Amino acid sequence: MMVSAEDTITIGLLGAGSVGAHVARTLVEERELISARVGTPVRLGGVAVRDPEAPRDWKIPGELLTTDPEALVDSSDLVIELIGGLEPAEELIERALRRGAAVVTGNKALLASRGAELNAIAAETGAMLRYEASVGGAIPILRPIEESLSGDRVTKVMGIVNGTTNYILDQMDTTGAVFGDALAEAQKLGYAEADPTADVAGHDAAAKAAILGTLAFHAPFSFDDVYCEGITEVTQDDIEAAAASGYVIKLLAIAENHSKDQAPGVVLRVHPTLLPRTHPLASVRGAFNAVFVVAENAGELMFYGQGAGGKPTSSAIMGDVVAVARTLSIGKELRTPLTYTPTISSEVDLPPLPIEKATTQYYIDMDVADREGVIAEIARVLADHHVSIESMRQPGSVTVEGEVEDSSNGAKVQIVTHLASEKDLHATVQELRGLDVVQVVNSVLRVEIEK
Ligand code: HSE
Repeated sequence: MMVSAEDTITIGLLGAGSVGAHVARTLVEERELISARVGTPVRLGGVAVRDPEAPRDWKIPGELLTTDPEALVDSSDLVIELIGGLEPAEELIERALRRGAAVVTGNKALLASRGAELNAIAAETGAMLRYEASVGGAIPILRPIEESLSGDRVTKVMGIVNGTTNYILDQMDTTGAVFGDALAEAQKLGYAEADPTADVAGHDAAAKAAILGTLAFHAPFSFDDVYCEGITEVTQDDIEAAAASGYVIKLLAIAENHSKDQAPGVVLRVHPTLLPRTHPLASVRGAFNAVFVVAENAGELMFYGQGAGGKPTSSAIMGDVVAVARTLSIGKELRTPLTYTPTISSEVDLPPLPIEKATTQYYIDMDVADREGVIAEIARVLADHHVSIESMRQPGSVTVEGEVEDSSNGAKVQIVTHLASEKDLHATVQELRGLDVVQVVNSVLRVEIEK
């Protein structure tokens, strides 16, 4: 392990965006406090940036800035990677791990695509790799799953892990704001990714689902294993219809263990979901995040907090820094480097399963002809595909260009099914679309009622 000869742990920071600037500030202004928490002096050895002149949330002292990240990595005991994206972040993290330096990162995209490889390098060299900030911003969620629940069996993790989309859906639900305006506001508040497509298309949440699933089920999963639907197709009508039936729409990242099934595995999925307004996750407002965990012995747990933003995310980074630096300092006292074993292991053969293996409830919204026998015909299609109806609403006549039409134009039917497989549901919707009495299937959304 690379603790420098002098009695100090030297930290190199890569990147000084909104999180990096807060981390730099903490390491400079709170150096004594952090050193006391670690039990050994720590110092910020340098901050690698592309443009030393760029405006930042906190003015980093000029003597700390460098444009040579490799040299900084090579002179640090602990490297904090906050560049984001795949390259050069991966190359620099690998460089640090290979020389035995500890790494703290919040890079969800990198971990979701190359996490297994990076953990393998860490295991090989005994270097520490921590990434609490990669999921849920300030919320301590990875350590509880990885460590506190390591003696239990997690069965399901279900989270609101993208602040931007939660903000947009919440604004649409509570103020009737239109999608574009709510997104612009989320960008202004600093929640959104540089390219907000990663947020609204669900890719950011999918990366976090892969990380959560990997730690919860002790098997490596990547971004490509996650079924992903974003929120761009969610309409104000969907939100209002959901509200009228006592639901709220949230973008959920779900990792579910199907180990008791004939073909065991894990389904990882991200999609807009109807939640009953009484569900604990339904009360998560604005850009806040929350992760709901179900474990065999612990039962239900929920972790809640700020999931985005420089200051909250810097808290998770600093927590990892202190934890890692403590271990470095113990190794230093013992005069022998402590080797570290990542808890990610392929302890069981638990492959990722396709979305077709998921079983959930569904909400189907249709415009239909308003005459006798229509409901019976629709019910027959569902029954033929073994999809059972939990509830059905006929909220009123169809509107055209904002005008309420008389019922000769048709009616609206909204169905919530009991648990059904994706396969049966797809076949059902396909047949419903072909019925003469169904004018249009407006929306098909998944519903999570059972925990
Ligand atoms: N764009 C992300 C979000 C930032 O909106 O949650 C935190 O990963």
